[in-house]
Amino acid sequence: MTHSTKNALSTSQREKRGVWSSKLGFILAASGSAIGLGNIVFFSSNAYQFGGGAFYLPYFIALFLLGIPVMILEFGLGAATGKAFPSALHRIAGKKGEFVGWWAQGSALFITMFYVAILGWALGMMIGTFGSLFEPGITAPFSPFSEPTTGPSAMVFFFNLITTAWPLLCVIIIWALNLIILSKGPKSIERAVRVFVPLMWLFMIGLIFRGLTFDGGVDGVLYLFTPNVEGVAEPQVWKGAFAQMFFSLSLGLGAMTTYASYLPKDTDQVNNALLVSFLNCGFEYVAGIAIFALLFVFALNPAGSTLTLSFFAIPQGIAAFPWGVRFFGFLFFFLLVVAGLTSSISLIESTVSSLIDKLNIARSRALTYVAIPGIIGSLCFALPQIIDPDLAGNGTLGLTLLDVMDHWAFGYSLLTAGFFTCILVGWVLGAKTLRLTINAHSKLTLRPWFDVLIKYIVPAVLGSVLVWSLYDELTSGTMYGSDIELQGFGWIPYSIPAIWLISTLSVAFFLTRKETHQIKLKRTADLYLMDPE
Ligand code: TRP
Repeated sequence: MTHSTKNALSTSQREKRGVWSSKLGFILAASGSAIGLGNIVFFSSNAYQFGGGAFYLPYFIALFLLGIPVMILEFGLGAATGKAFPSALHRIAGKKGEFVGWWAQGSALFITMFYVAILGWALGMMIGTFGSLFEPGITAPFSPFSEPTTGPSAMVFFFNLITTAWPLLCVIIIWALNLIILSKGPKSIERAVRVFVPLMWLFMIGLIFRGLTFDGGVDGVLYLFTPNVEGVAEPQVWKGAFAQMFFSLSLGLGAMTTYASYLPKDTDQVNNALLVSFLNCGFEYVAGIAIFALLFVFALNPAGSTLTLSFFAIPQGIAAFPWGVRFFGFLFFFLLVVAGLTSSISLIESTVSSLIDKLNIARSRALTYVAIPGIIGSLCFALPQIIDPDLAGNGTLGLTLLDVMDHWAFGYSLLTAGFFTCILVGWVLGAKTLRLTINAHSKLTLRPWFDVLIKYIVPAVLGSVLVWSLYDELTSGTMYGSDIELQGFGWIPYSIPAIWLISTLSVAFFLTRKETHQIKLKRTADLYLMDPE
């Protein structure tokens, strides 16, 4: 077979899997994946927790040292192999690669479960803007908050909400929306992101204008941008910045590899990676400006959990607006829902696409396989039973489960999977092989420093952060969350990480062992010429 017929063949096979109709479609989808709750909810609370200006030095180092190189790698891997993560890794590294890929997909499913649960709460709050969210004097079912408040309290509303069954319904609605958007693969994804992604930017810009036109709004921006070198000595700040960067750019779990597998091979991946990374981090800082402006104008104190800032402090600020309270409140939660949806679809799609590639099954079947455990998991994270009435912890069963899951899956799975992916690409395939393949279609030429990053620097940085963090955890004497009085639910901090590890490892083991006709790529200077499809 000549080279050109081989290419023609693989082109038609690619079309069968699904392709983006244009580069714009891909950029919208990939930036929609990157921009999500991570940029609005987690970024601002991390930046606040780590002292605003102390955060951005580690943040920018994380962007250039880890974020952009790993995004180039993930895009390159997807476009060159034309496969979702596990099969793509199989092609470059055989079964051990595939095992890493499936473990990452299993973790992606866990992250999807709680991501969708948070989106469900955001939807509940959004609906609440038409109801009593901004009305004073409601009482909460928890002891510290059960006194009637004088003004509206978003926190009280939130705790009322999560102790009812409404979030269960909201979670089902969010899952249904995800499944509709994913029903036709990249074609239907593209249709959704063409509307949602521009809308998301528009809403965010509206919120910044509102924030900055209040007296004092600029102080918040200064807090975010005034450098603070003291915090830089804290190892926690670095781990926070690295985990945040991976999560924010949707890296580590193969979502970007899957999206890039729907691209033609000859796309410029360096350009794509730079564009998506800058769009994402631009949005993140823009969101930070809007949020910190509001915090300072209304002297809000967002101390507490990750969710505190977006679910209590911001709505509290909006409640104090001179006009347009319901309008801006709705806008804010609608923004969360839209930004979150364009991200959750990428998490689900990467698992769905991986199953289709491996098992050769219909999309509807793969969607069912992922949706059933996914919906059950999300419902667990939305369980309204009160287990911690003093609110020393998180209050409800669902929120407590979510907090512990978030600690392990968010803190460890992305960086661990990213670490192994760099080892597989850097050492088994050879970073140079991937670099030359990417360079064949890229205007900006990647130099050998790319190999050095992928082979040594990124794995060394990720590896040491992970080892240090685990060591810190294990020597602290208590498991994360086990110091909280969880009446009768003291098993949670121990069993959640166990469930996550055992189930992801056994799913990975089972799926990797299942025989299909995967072909391992041989090492050559050019993956592009080696497509054995
Ligand atoms: N990047 C998204 C956010 O910031 C979350 C996300 C979507 C994600 N897809 C992912 C995180 C894949 C890790 C892996 O909210």
